[in-house]
Amino acid sequence: MSPNREFWTSSKGFVLAMAGSAIGLGNIWRFSYIMGKYGGAAFILVYLAAIFLIGLPIMLCELSLGRASGKGPLEAMTELAPRRTTLSFLTAVALILGAAAFVFKGMYFHAGVAGFFALGALLFGWGFLGFTVTFLTPLMIAVFYSVVGGWIIIYTIVSPLGKIFRDPAASAELLGNIVTASGGKYWVTVAAASAFFLATALIVMAGVQKGIERFSKIFMPLIFILIIVIIVRVLTLPNAKEGLRFLFLPDFSKMTAEGVMAALGQAFFTLSLGSGVGIAYGSYLGRSSSLPKTAFTIVLLDTIASILAGLAIFPLLFSTGLSPEEGTSLVFKVLPIAFGKLPLSALWGTLFFFTLLLAALTSSISMLEGAVQGLMQKLYLPRGKAVLLLIIVLGPLVPLTAVSSANFANVPKLGQFFTETLKLRSESFFAILDNTTCLWLMPLAGLMTLLFVSYVWGNKKALEEMNCFNAFDWLFSKIWLFVVRFVSPVLVILAFLKGLGIFF
Ligand code: PFF
Repeated sequence: MSPNREFWTSSKGFVLAMAGSAIGLGNIWRFSYIMGKYGGAAFILVYLAAIFLIGLPIMLCELSLGRASGKGPLEAMTELAPRRTTLSFLTAVALILGAAAFVFKGMYFHAGVAGFFALGALLFGWGFLGFTVTFLTPLMIAVFYSVVGGWIIIYTIVSPLGKIFRDPAASAELLGNIVTASGGKYWVTVAAASAFFLATALIVMAGVQKGIERFSKIFMPLIFILIIVIIVRVLTLPNAKEGLRFLFLPDFSKMTAEGVMAALGQAFFTLSLGSGVGIAYGSYLGRSSSLPKTAFTIVLLDTIASILAGLAIFPLLFSTGLSPEEGTSLVFKVLPIAFGKLPLSALWGTLFFFTLLLAALTSSISMLEGAVQGLMQKLYLPRGKAVLLLIIVLGPLVPLTAVSSANFANVPKLGQFFTETLKLRSESFFAILDNTTCLWLMPLAGLMTLLFVSYVWGNKKALEEMNCFNAFDWLFSKIWLFVVRFVSPVLVILAFLKGLGIFF
């Protein structure tokens, strides 16, 4: 245990920091459009099953690993068990088979990822899982999250002027310019994404208590208050009932196998699982808190936030005669048009984007903390220098990703360099980062964490770590013991294989 280790000042501070990590763009933006696509309430039902059968059990594994080891994600696993075990070897073998299956199907990108992980598991055993959830996954997410964070900064700044709400063409043009970095304005996108990343880094630099906890304690309640204010306004609109019907009456015809996958992916993303956050934040938690109770509260807050976001967005859309669209356009194109139909549109629009910005920031700080903790422990750096190192190494990737769409086509010199000198023709960095983390890294790390806790460290030890105080905790932990061993891993494996399109 390092001498300068910090702790949360209270259990409440910890819950708010974890909820801050969980509640973010995933709840307000991603949840809404996925739900819109897969049948509203029908999706919510499947999503709730995923949250309670997979999400909550994995979160408990992560929190107990963090608290028991007293270390962050980089060293927690190797602190509690030997570096290489039979299971880490079997994982490497399974990944090699997976890679072979991908080659056979001509999916070379996926084959490369599986091969890379097989090699890592073979050479470094559980240490490789630690490395992945400390540096690889959360930092990759931090990069593309900063890009979207930048878009939100731009929207928050232009909202008070009201033009994007009054004039739909202006809003569409702004979105086009921002997302594809076109119209010669790529520097705006670059500056905004960099500003979001730097703001995140500065909060983390201030420390666990004075940075992350304080920021979450102030802004998490504010986020809830602001969403509720928007809901109250929106529910008084004519035809708001249509939105409520959409949210709460299931349409099972839209709930496909793909929808089940989307629900699972959403459970991982929204609870920040498989990205080291639970382990890092859990390592700062004092012994007296009961983990079942805190984890349950966090998951509940996150789920409430998603439903509240739905309550703010769908009645607004339906009452203004718009339909939920997929992806970026929902929040950045359709919603401004909807706000435009309200009196005082600039006020409501600004409130909405400001709320989104706060939610994005409380999440992005959690992506950097594990890496900062790892650098402090491994390189014996003070916090400030560890954050600086991250800014130097990761910083340049943020603006690059921000303008990466269409092979950098809209940034003349860079576009030439990539397509002519390097002869690269790829998807945008943004899409690669998004897909690799959500399809591969988060579920794989979640699965490995489950297996590590059940079969290597031992889930009896994890249970001791949880501090079960009362009958609820006790009952909960008994169910957890069964689910974590037999239910969650099987579900994740099935969904994982289905999602990647192998075997069935
Ligand atoms: N949970 C965040 C959201 O819903 O927006 C996203 C996230 C945060 C993913 C932190 C991963 C992570 F490590």
